[in-house]
Amino acid sequence: MKIAVGSDHAAYPFKLELIEYVKELGHDVTDLGTRSAERTDYPIYGEKVARAVVSGEYERGLAFCGTGVGISISANKVPGARAVVCSEPYSAMLSREHNNTNILSLGSRVVGIELAKMIIKIWLETGYDAGRHQRRLDMISTLEEGGTCG
Ligand code: RB5
Repeated sequence: MKIAVGSDHAAYPFKLELIEYVKELGHDVTDLGTRSAERTDYPIYGEKVARAVVSGEYERGLAFCGTGVGISISANKVPGARAVVCSEPYSAMLSREHNNTNILSLGSRVVGIELAKMIIKIWLETGYDAGRHQRRLDMISTLEEGGTCG
């Protein structure tokens, strides 16, 4: 898959190691920044990853910051982005099956590197179940368009 990756400074070394891992899994990875450990702002990279995925240029996105929280909130402000922040593989897997998440966010200060690799592998390998879940994703789209779910 074509995968867009972004992080802030807090997750910079974490991101570099995980990019190598995702390449070893056979994916085509593009790093959208940041490019150093110099202090920066996570919304910049949450937006970059989200727009790269929502545009269709990339199939999935990986977005990292200290907790994974700020960058996932930022990514989720882009309509069509469905970012999940998690620190264990079960939620990562279910977020694919039920929520068709297209961005995975991890916190470099929360998960160790080996757990991060496990979460990423499961998230990348798991498909979307569609069916009954699609109606709910359509409701999320309605919210994005300013509508109400009732
Ligand atoms: C940066 O210090 C930190 O706030 C950021 O990486 C992230 O954890 C925010 O959610």
